[in-house]
Amino acid sequence: MTKLSPNPVSHQKTSGFIYIVTTIAALGGLLFGYDTGVISGAILYIKQQFSLSSAGQEVVVSAVLVGAILGAAAGGLLSDRIGRRSSIILAAILFTIGGLGSAWASDSTWLIASRVIVGLGVGLASFISPLYNSEVAPKKIRGALVMLNQLAVTSGIVLAYLVDYGFSGVADGWRWMLGLSIVPAIALGVGMWFMPRSPRWLVSKNQGREAFNVLSRIRPSQANVEAEIEEIHQGIQQEQGDWRELGSPRIRKALIVGVGLAILQQVTGVNTVIYYAPTILQSAGFESAATSILGTTGIGVINVVFTIVAIVLIDRLGRRPLLLTGLVGMIVGLGALGLAFQLSNLGQALGWVAIVSLMVYIAGFAIGMGPVFWLLIAEIYPLNVRSQAMSIATVANWGANFVVALTFLSLTEWIGRSWTFWLYGIISVGAWLFVYYLVPETKGRSLEEIQQHWNR
Ligand code: BGC
Repeated sequence: MTKLSPNPVSHQKTSGFIYIVTTIAALGGLLFGYDTGVISGAILYIKQQFSLSSAGQEVVVSAVLVGAILGAAAGGLLSDRIGRRSSIILAAILFTIGGLGSAWASDSTWLIASRVIVGLGVGLASFISPLYNSEVAPKKIRGALVMLNQLAVTSGIVLAYLVDYGFSGVADGWRWMLGLSIVPAIALGVGMWFMPRSPRWLVSKNQGREAFNVLSRIRPSQANVEAEIEEIHQGIQQEQGDWRELGSPRIRKALIVGVGLAILQQVTGVNTVIYYAPTILQSAGFESAATSILGTTGIGVINVVFTIVAIVLIDRLGRRPLLLTGLVGMIVGLGALGLAFQLSNLGQALGWVAIVSLMVYIAGFAIGMGPVFWLLIAEIYPLNVRSQAMSIATVANWGANFVVALTFLSLTEWIGRSWTFWLYGIISVGAWLFVYYLVPETKGRSLEEIQQHWNR
């Protein structure tokens, strides 16, 4: 490789710069959380405004999920063609158009169309923000920097609950609830405009010099930049072909891990809690809407707090211990929740047992399956198939999310609440075994070293 020297203009040595870069990209996660969380409160007013039937409400609520499936499907090729940074800027534009469209919607068709546009942004940002962060991060703290995105997701959910609460008494408050999302959306778009492109994407496009300049800006010392570029080059040379390699046996193994985790992250029930916690709490005896909303916010805050715990631990303990421990918490929480609904003599105590069980469950999710799934799919694929493989896993994730959201309430009517939660609990046991036997440890290894794992 020819020796590269940094371009003096773009070489602003700022060791803290990597935190700014990854935080701005993580605003994509904030919008993912906000836009999926906000509808739980807003729908109560939207259904009155447009006189929606239950089916009509379901369409409004799931429009974002449908958009997200489509956005995630398009995002693979897109982020290879136009790059990670430009794809995130495109997501920000979609968030802004969709947010404005929702706020000004004059009928339900307009609203649904706008929510699908928001969903396209969610689908793109949900994996391209972690992808970008994994490609700019130094390996030692890559786990934490990629997981900033999940911290933003969980914060976005709490923010949405609070905004819903704040605008609940206001005329046309739902327009504000949906419309305010354009503030972080504009910050994401403008912010990313000033951020560097992914050095790994640049190398894959034969723009080694620019990649060198980028790395010089985001690494505290020059010393290792050349070695890192060299490693990226080697990684690319070891791979033959483009994304069509997806079909090869070794990528297939990695795909099974990614898609498996994607589906398991959803079918263990997290979004029944995120989307329906007030309903669960009301049926457990917290009759007033205000108390159940407060309880829901508490669950949201625990989700944030334990995501922070995971960020602190991830690069020390590794991915597998957090996944396995978190799943145990989920299994215990779901078991207790099912049991609480089973014991009809709990009376008043039922509400409290339910809320504590939900908190244990969400804490377990937040240290394991929540953040670590998005982290692993950003780490385990070689560069030539990375964005396509992530796109496939992300489509599986949004697809499973959609199925669970559509079936949860019917399931509770069909097999009862206890067995619904126990079912998610049994699937969580399956998830534990899946992780134990199939998921590799990626802590402290460069993306290029991880790619060696599958060659073996
Ligand atoms: C999941 C979302 C979920 C969120 C909750 C994310 O990792 O993909 O479906 O709503 O976590 O924190």
